Formats: sequence, C-alpha cells, structure tokens
Amino acid sequence: MAFKWKDRYSLDIAVIDEQHKKLFEIGNRAYDLAILNDSYDHFDEILSIVNELLDYTKYHFEYEEELMKKYNYEGLIHQHNEHAFYVDKVTSLSQEKIDANQQKSVLDILDFLSEWISSHILISDRKYVDAIKQK
Ligand SMILES: [Fe+2]
Ligand SMILES: [Fe+2]
Repeated sequence: MAFKWKDRYSLDIAVIDEQHKKLFEIGNRAYDLAILNDSYDHFDEILSIVNELLDYTKYHFEYEEELMKKYNYEGLIHQHNEHAFYVDKVTSLSQEKIDANQQKSVLDILDFLSEWISSHILISDRKYVDAIKQK
C-alpha cells in the first residue's frame, strides 16, 4: 500500500515527524481516490489533492533546508538537489490529465513518490537529523 507511515520513519524530532506524517496522509488521500474504479470522474478532486501535496512538500522541504542552514549541515546541497527532484515529479503529476486511460500512469507516479519519500526519510533525512543532533 502506498504512503503508509511506519514507525521506523520516525526521526525523533517531533516537528519533522509530524510534517512527514502529513506528507503521507495527503499522498494516501490522493492514492485512495486514484485507485477508485467507480463510474465517477475524480479528476478535479485528485488534482486538488495533488496540488495540496505539492504545496505541503515545498513547505516541508523549505523548513528542513532552513534547519540545515541553521546547523551548517554540510549535506545541504545534496538534500536540496534531492528535494528539487521530488518537487519536479509532484509538479509533473499536477499537470497530468487524469482520466481513466491515465489512471495507471497516475498510480505509477504515486507509487514512485511513495517509495521515494520513504527512502529519502530513511537515508537522507536520517543523516541530517543525526548530524544536527550531534551539534
Ligand atoms: Fe529531506
Ligand atoms: Fe523530510
């Protein structure tokens, strides 16, 4: 299942964990709608959730990068590049025309985003959190 929060994503900084949980919650809402196979057109709803995901993602990444700056974290550029890549992917999804034919491609992108954010948290975010905790 996409965008499922797991305890091992917790980084022990409450505000960051809350933001990550919210990213999963929004992504999960988009996913739930995208897998619906009823006869209704959910295009507008999916699009509005994807835009919400885009806004919240940008907010979260800026928050993290400010925190990294504050602690002079040496991996900031690397994080910034990874963040930019993800924002591009979400932006491309927000521009996708979501109809029945494209349901599969939307789900594929959401799956990709879900995998990506999980491994970004487990590897890259874990790294900066460990580094700033030592400072
Ligand atoms: Fe990050
Ligand atoms: Fe993060």
